[in-house]
Amino acid sequence: MNSGLDVVILAAGKGTRMRSQYPKVLHRLAGAPLLEHVLRAAAGVSPDRSIVVLGHKGEQVQAAFADRPLSFVTQDPPLGTGHAIQCTRHEVTSPVFLVLPGDVPLIPPEALIRLVELHRESGALLTLLTAELDDPRAYGRVLRDKQGRVSGVVEAADANAEELTVREVNSGVYCLANRPELWEALDALSPVNAQGELYLTDLVSATARKRACSALVWPHSEDLIGINDRRDLAKAERTLGQRTLEELMLSGITVVDPERTYVSPESQLGQDTVLFPGTHLEGACRVGRNCRVGPGAQLIDTRLEDGATVKWSVLEGARVGAEARVGPYAHLRPGTQIGSHARVGNFVEVKAASLGDGAKAGHLAYIGDATVGARVNIGAGAITCNYDGVSKHHTQIGAGAFIGSNVSLVAPVTVGDQAVVGAGSVIVQDVPPGALAVARARQAVKPDWKQHREVA
Ligand code: UD1
Ligand code: MG
Repeated sequence: MNSGLDVVILAAGKGTRMRSQYPKVLHRLAGAPLLEHVLRAAAGVSPDRSIVVLGHKGEQVQAAFADRPLSFVTQDPPLGTGHAIQCTRHEVTSPVFLVLPGDVPLIPPEALIRLVELHRESGALLTLLTAELDDPRAYGRVLRDKQGRVSGVVEAADANAEELTVREVNSGVYCLANRPELWEALDALSPVNAQGELYLTDLVSATARKRACSALVWPHSEDLIGINDRRDLAKAERTLGQRTLEELMLSGITVVDPERTYVSPESQLGQDTVLFPGTHLEGACRVGRNCRVGPGAQLIDTRLEDGATVKWSVLEGARVGAEARVGPYAHLRPGTQIGSHARVGNFVEVKAASLGDGAKAGHLAYIGDATVGARVNIGAGAITCNYDGVSKHHTQIGAGAFIGSNVSLVAPVTVGDQAVVGAGSVIVQDVPPGALAVARARQAVKPDWKQHREVA
């Protein structure tokens, strides 16, 4: 069923204040581009069409969102937000359309739903979303007449001292009627202002004069932040981060120090898990119940089963079994699977390898491209030599095997179940199950060596 609503997202501006070589809407917030956040909010009104206006470095934006059902319109050169809408004239087909700047990532879908409802009830040509700010800084100020009706918006750069004291600001989000009068009013915009641009904000006074303008004051002003520079980006990151942590705390997770903890909105955590300071959960992490994470842990797209512990470690695309312990100073790289009750400790790196239940690699080891059975003990300094300079090779270690300290397992190689490899061995041939393999030079002892030297 059609919603009778299109969405237009403005993303053609230069984003000069970001001082970046990348388009503003591709800057990331909580791991996702700003435009992605705006699209997610827009999805809340189920638009029939989503039209994105691109200009400056638009090909990069288009490439990043190529697989999405979006219509792209080019505004080249960008001559202002009013001009951006003019460029969408032949794309907008629904009777009503929402306009969203590409730089308002925290806008909640509920605000858009309410705005569209008010617009439809009021029959206005334009409905504006506003908020009251204690520090309105660079936002456009909303002007109201004596009856309290919106009469216009003045940009901060064009405002006089009195107008600058106004605390109600324009969010840049509007609901517009796709009617000829609206497009005529857009055609009549002129660039007589401090920036020499066609301001979409001037449409507010034009429609207000016709009594065809309404406004919704959104009570949560932090939702409407516009990202113009990197300070705004940090502020939005903080707002979003704190909201995510608050939700987690209300759902039964202990966050020891919310100021120094980051959890991505996509991550999921189980009850009674404790996050210690310096914990970063990025991407889509899944953390079970009763886990202890941190201090100092970076987990990316990683899964921890119930009761796992991770401290001072980096885990990327890893899976850690129930009650397993990781760290301090472990690095689990993509494709790592650690069994339940296993232990991966100090300065151990694991890549594309699985360690069975109860296996231990406590100190200074490298396990790459390997399958390590249950209860295997990997001694300090043991490594898999998985790379011959051209290809990667696999190491197989059977259940209950014991790999002594400082062993090099030259892959491809198999160590059987319950086999023992003596410390310092360089293993180039398979070791059968239950066997002892020792591959190192025999120790030579010369008695009274010191005495002989002195005589000579
Ligand atoms: C705009 C509003 C301001 C409002 C603020 C809210 C205008 C003139 N001003 O100011 O009243 O308080 O948003 O955040 O509208 N864009 C284009 N084409 C252009 C120019 C801009 O597509 O020619 C896009 C930008 O890429 C951006 C959005 O429009 O995503 C807003 O532009 P920006 O320069 O950030 O406007 P603000 O100064 O924030
Ligand atoms: Mg802006």
